[in-house]
This record gives sequence, C-alpha cells and structure tokens, in this order.
Amino acid sequence: MKILVTGALGKVGRATVAAAQAAGHDVTATDQAPPSYGPTDPSAAPYLRADLTDFGQTVDLVGRVRPDAVVHTAGIPEPFQDTEVAIFDTNLPALFHVAEAVRLVGVPRLVAMSSETAPGYMTGDPVLLPDYLPVDENHPLRPREAYALTKVLGEHMLDALVRRQDNAVPVTAVSIRPSLVTTGEMYGDFIKRTREAEIAPSFNQWTFVDADDLGDLALRAATTETPGHEVVYAAQPDNLRGEPLADLVAKAYGDDAPEIRDLERPDSGAISVAKARRLFGWEPRTGLAAR
Ligand SMILES: NC(=O)c1ccc[n+]([C@@H]2O[C@H](COP(=O)([O-])OP(=O)(O)OC[C@H]3O[C@@H](n4cnc5c(N)ncnc54)[C@H](O)[C@@H]3O)[C@@H](O)[C@H]2O)c1
Repeated sequence: MKILVTGALGKVGRATVAAAQAAGHDVTATDQAPPSYGPTDPSAAPYLRADLTDFGQTVDLVGRVRPDAVVHTAGIPEPFQDTEVAIFDTNLPALFHVAEAVRLVGVPRLVAMSSETAPGYMTGDPVLLPDYLPVDENHPLRPREAYALTKVLGEHMLDALVRRQDNAVPVTAVSIRPSLVTTGEMYGDFIKRTREAEIAPSFNQWTFVDADDLGDLALRAATTETPGHEVVYAAQPDNLRGEPLADLVAKAYGDDAPEIRDLERPDSGAISVAKARRLFGWEPRTGLAAR
C-alpha cells in the first residue's frame, strides 16, 4: 500500500514510517523541517516538506503522493510548552487541511493521532481524576484547555469527514488516543526515576505506550478495513511502576480513588486497550523490565 506519514520526523511518525517500511509498504514521509538536498539514502522513505497549517501545501502534498492511506501524526504533542493559541492554531488547521485534502484528492483511509488527554481530566488546572479505571472509549469527554480541546474537536472532524457523501471516494478513519509515548532512549532513566519515586498522584495513573508498539498500531489502523470513524486508545497493558494498579491508586488517592473496574492483569495500566486489540489484532508488549 502507498502510505503517507505526516510528522514523520517526530516520535510517533518515525515509528510509523519504520513499521510501514518493515512491512514492505511504499511510504512517503512528510514534516515541516527542510529536506537534506542532494543524494539521498536509498533505504530512507522519500521525504516531502510541507507546513500542514498551509492548505495549499497540504493539498499539493496529498495530491502529489496520492496515497491509499494517510497517517497523520504532525502537530504540537503536549500542552505544556506552547501557548494555547499556538496549540489550537497548529493542531486544528493541520488536521482540517489533511482531512480536506483526503476528501478532495480521494484517499480512502485516514488515521490521526488524538490523545489520552481527550477526556479532559489529565490536563488543566487542577489535574482531576477519571470517573473510573481502566479508562475506555466510553469515558465522557470534558476538555478544559486547548490541547485536549483540539483532540476532541479533531475527533469530531473525522466524524464529519466520514459522514459526508460528497467525498471523492468513500473515506473511513481512525483516531488513536496514545498514552504517554515512550521511546527506547527513555526506558533507562525515566522508568528508573518513576519506579523509585514515592507513590504520589500521577496525571495519567502511571500509563504509557511504547513508540514502536504505537507505530505498529498506526500501521494496522491504516491497513485494516473498519467502517466509519473508530476511536481507540493505545497503551501498554502494564503500568510504568510494574505494581498492582489497585494498590497504587489506593496509596496515591486514598478516599478519592476512582472506582476500579475489571482489570486485564493486576499490574494493568489505567487505560483499556481492548478495543484496539479487537479491531486491529494489536498486541502491545508487556514486561517493562525486558526492554
Ligand atoms: N508524545 C506523546 O506522549 C503523545 C501522547 C498522546 C498523543 N500524542 C500525539 O501524537 C502525535 C505525534 O506526537 P509526537 O510525540 O510524535 O510529537 P513530535 O513533536 O515528536 O512530532 C510531531 C512532528 O510534527 C511536526 N509538525 C508540527 N507542526 C507541523 C506543521 N505545521 N506542519 C508539518 N509538520 C508539523 C513536527 O515538526 C514534528 O516532527 C501528536 O498529534 C500528539 O498530540 C503524543
């Protein structure tokens, strides 16, 4: 399949390009950084620079590649280091332009990165707690700041895209809500610090997703047929501390602890990935220590 990956120089984009190339797909990478002009590495995916907040560049890009699927990972990936206006003015136009380009050029499949922050409790002041654990796709969405809001509005955009009947070809879509994306370099220090720290409230209840496993899910979502627009969470089955979730939650939150529903395993993360497993046959790895 011909797959166009946006944000290809970022954590999630890089992992998606790698997964798609390893599976033998014809991948084009795009990001906003300048290309390295001149002879290129023949094993690297072809690269096209485009600023996706510019509609003309986005249509040119998608029209030139004419992919079978777009995996859209470009954007500002967290709420903490940019102004809310910058986050809003980047993430929403970029996704809207990609969705419009997909619609006009005739791309049948769009996969976009939403976020675990979409339900709203994790980001905003104060940080709040989910209604229940593990959180799943049925949890209410109550965004408070620009980043989570762009993710919720982005999911609505894809609802609208697949609902339309005037698309050049019928379009189906998937929004993936990744937990905290961790890469190989982060495993040593970050995990050690998390595990050694005293148990205290955690914005996402010690949950994470491995970048390579997420790249694999993005590829599965791009290449599997599902109707309409599906939303799925992406997280590892086990939590960052490798301890029973019920104990962590009881120690960190005491009487305020959210209700704990069925857990797949005692040391579960705080997010259920049952839907991603069911729709896409995704099997994220467990056992942090092995990485
Ligand atoms: N990193 C996480 O923990 C995390 C968690 C949940 C969701 N997400 C989502 O996953 C996606 C990818 O995150 P990431 O961690 O790979 O981020 P990243 O910052 O590593 O990569 C994002 C890429 O998007 C590119 N980009 C930004 N604005 C652009 C524009 N206007 N035009 C073209 N390219 C542009 C950047 O240059 C960068 O290479 C984002 O949508 C993010 O919100 C990330």
